[in-house]
Amino acid sequence: MKGSKVTFIGLGQMGAALVPPFINAGHQVTVWNRSPAKAEPLAALGAIAAPSFEAAISASELIIVCLADYATSNALFHQGSVSALLKGKTVVQFTTGDGKEAEQGAQWAAEIGVDYLDGAIMDYPTKVGGPECMLLVSGSAAVWERHEAALTLLGGRMTYVGAKASSANLLDGSLLTMYYGNTFALMQSASMLAAEQVDIKDFRIALSAFKPVIESTWKRSIEAIDAQDYSGNEASIHVHMLGVQSLLKRARSTGVDSRLLELFADYVATTAARGHEADELPAVYEVFRRLD
Ligand SMILES: NC(=O)c1ccc[n+]([C@@H]2O[C@H](COP(=O)([O-])OP(=O)(O)OC[C@H]3O[C@@H](n4cnc5c(N)ncnc54)[C@H](OP(=O)(O)O)[C@@H]3O)[C@@H](O)[C@H]2O)c1
Repeated sequence: MKGSKVTFIGLGQMGAALVPPFINAGHQVTVWNRSPAKAEPLAALGAIAAPSFEAAISASELIIVCLADYATSNALFHQGSVSALLKGKTVVQFTTGDGKEAEQGAQWAAEIGVDYLDGAIMDYPTKVGGPECMLLVSGSAAVWERHEAALTLLGGRMTYVGAKASSANLLDGSLLTMYYGNTFALMQSASMLAAEQVDIKDFRIALSAFKPVIESTWKRSIEAIDAQDYSGNEASIHVHMLGVQSLLKRARSTGVDSRLLELFADYVATTAARGHEADELPAVYEVFRRLD
């Protein structure tokens, strides 16, 4: 594996971060970026700056892509002259996109005789290459097995999530939904605490102790959704409705923005109105799915 040729297309904030782990592992690395200046720091580390996109993809068997979006990537790759240069090679697509874009990428690759994996980077550029950095990749198991050792250079938590090319992007979207939901909830909490003169550092201590409760709630929710059984005897939707109403009242009294809590209250009330008052919190899933 050491000394094998790898090309990187796209050297933005994330694309550039993907390169050093491969240089450090002794690979022969070629890089290309629309704005050539971004290749210079990587050339100083030992990468070869290709003079053109075509030269870059001709240089290696493994081509790793990280561009702004799939439209940008497709405009570069989906050209007849490029297909001929790619035949028999492997393209790993780390550009963020949706499931459809990944499936179309896999179809394009199959049509022109290219091995293809689609991936998602679940961390920040400064974390790439570290043991904690998480990435997802999906597509042919055989192609994954062939490149697993090389791709794992990008992060210790590089995870293969199955043969469907869309899986990595779809799971990426779900994890980001969790990321935004939790981060926005943190803003709601922090603003209320600030209005009530509670030190934000105390919130950090309390949140850290509360983490196991959140994690067990997620686990129980996934189990309940999977079983489509929301019954239980811990805390009913009725109790949650009173709890959320109380939070909403408190937020309004402090004068902070309370739209997020209004949304929570609305979901819980709708769940109760649909006959789930005695069920547990995961019954809210029925409202999201519009199953009733
Ligand atoms: N940054 C993060 O924390 C992070 C985390 C996870 C995933 N990602 C994903 O990684 C991908 C790249 O993100 P980034 O942070 O590296 O973004 P970025 O810094 O904005 O870089 C965008 C890249 O796309 C290229 N590009 C844009 N339009 C182009 C065009 N018309 N033709 C050719 N190249 C073009 C840029 O080239 P120029 O340099 O010439 O403009 C640059 O290489 C995105 O899909 C993003 O969602 C990023």
